[in-house]
Amino acid sequence: MAEFPPLLVTNCSQLVTMAGPASPRVGDALRDLHIVNDGAMLVVEGRIAAAGWRGDIEPLAAQGTQVVDAGGRVVMPGFVDAHTHLVFAGNRADEFEMRCAGMTYQQIAERGGGIRSTVRRTREATEHELVATGQKYARWFLECGTTTVEAKSGYGLTVDDELKLLRAIRATAETIPLRCVPTFLGAHEIPDEYKTRSDDYVDLVVNEMIPVVAAEKLAEFCDVFCESKVFSVAQAERLLTAAKRYGLGLRVHADQFTSNGAVELAAKLGAKTADHLEQTTPQAIAAMKETGVQPVLLPGSVYAIGSQKYAPARAMIDAGLPVVVATDFNPGSSPTVSMTMILSLACTQMKMTPAEAITAATINAAWSLNRGHEIGSLEPGKIADFVLHDAEDYRELAYFFGSHRPYAVFTGGVRV
Ligand code: NIG
Ligand code: FE
Repeated sequence: MAEFPPLLVTNCSQLVTMAGPASPRVGDALRDLHIVNDGAMLVVEGRIAAAGWRGDIEPLAAQGTQVVDAGGRVVMPGFVDAHTHLVFAGNRADEFEMRCAGMTYQQIAERGGGIRSTVRRTREATEHELVATGQKYARWFLECGTTTVEAKSGYGLTVDDELKLLRAIRATAETIPLRCVPTFLGAHEIPDEYKTRSDDYVDLVVNEMIPVVAAEKLAEFCDVFCESKVFSVAQAERLLTAAKRYGLGLRVHADQFTSNGAVELAAKLGAKTADHLEQTTPQAIAAMKETGVQPVLLPGSVYAIGSQKYAPARAMIDAGLPVVVATDFNPGSSPTVSMTMILSLACTQMKMTPAEAITAATINAAWSLNRGHEIGSLEPGKIADFVLHDAEDYRELAYFFGSHRPYAVFTGGVRV
């Protein structure tokens, strides 16, 4: 990080530190945010040097320290959004209108729309154009208090177009102070030209995409949309096994519309996460628990496609799983960058408590991206990614909905 003077953030009504064990939080620990009332935090060289009660922290500030008066606001870690489709061309407002008139997300997909229509638009776009839209959405994320996102490819579906997307993600991260963790999702959909020979497309992903993505270090994770009429469990196993051989971590779009064994596959292969899980069974929950797969719940995609079937968050918490919540930002099923909207849905629709939802959107999400030692909490040594929220009580972030914009956002100790 660049050189800048030390920073004292003080007069925080609540400093939500999320301090705790260096591991994903489960059970009662999901509700323990380690809040310091009347808190303060000292930041040196972009990292947190001390966090605690104002009376203890203020005397530690050396001369020349820059002071940020939080004005009695809540100060929290930046949100970590562990599932986004950050970069794509165009949008699907037309399909949105069709859904409002009664068509379902899947009917539209079966008629060649859905992911495939965004693929057609994205193939036509240049890398330069994709970087510009990536930057636009990256700014939206920052404005909403998110400081790290996982960012998937998956709207190219040719070797060149998938590489173009991953390079656009990299260029976005290099030019906007939003941290991006790239995921290769070449198996997001069966492209038009492979419609009747999906195994040949799996060959292409395994033989020609994964090796280049790994060699160029364009992604840390590999994901697959394992779903009836998309990639079968057997195909997903081939894809993920190849990715694992190349050193990529694994994430799986699983049990979104049908429960088909995708979660059990994620467990068998030691995937980091299984995402969606709206149709997940008690057996699948047990398999995640046994093998340490983190569930990533995406209530925005349930809400926006007009479904009522949310993932069974309470059963997962009761089973001791380190749940994560994320936006699933994408142009079809979940066009939102707002993590506070997701907190609202997590609480009202999945019956999580505000504290559980915040843990799921910060420290647990950070662990799911292999970043738990760097971000997700305000503890000494960690990167100073934090947000001043216009709230006196952290619960307001989930309680007010549809209106919230943070007061100030910092990444690496620098205001953005
Ligand atoms: O996570 N389910 C697959 N992928 C996305 C939707 C992408 C799109 O509709 O463009 C999801 O919901
Ligand atoms: Fe997704």
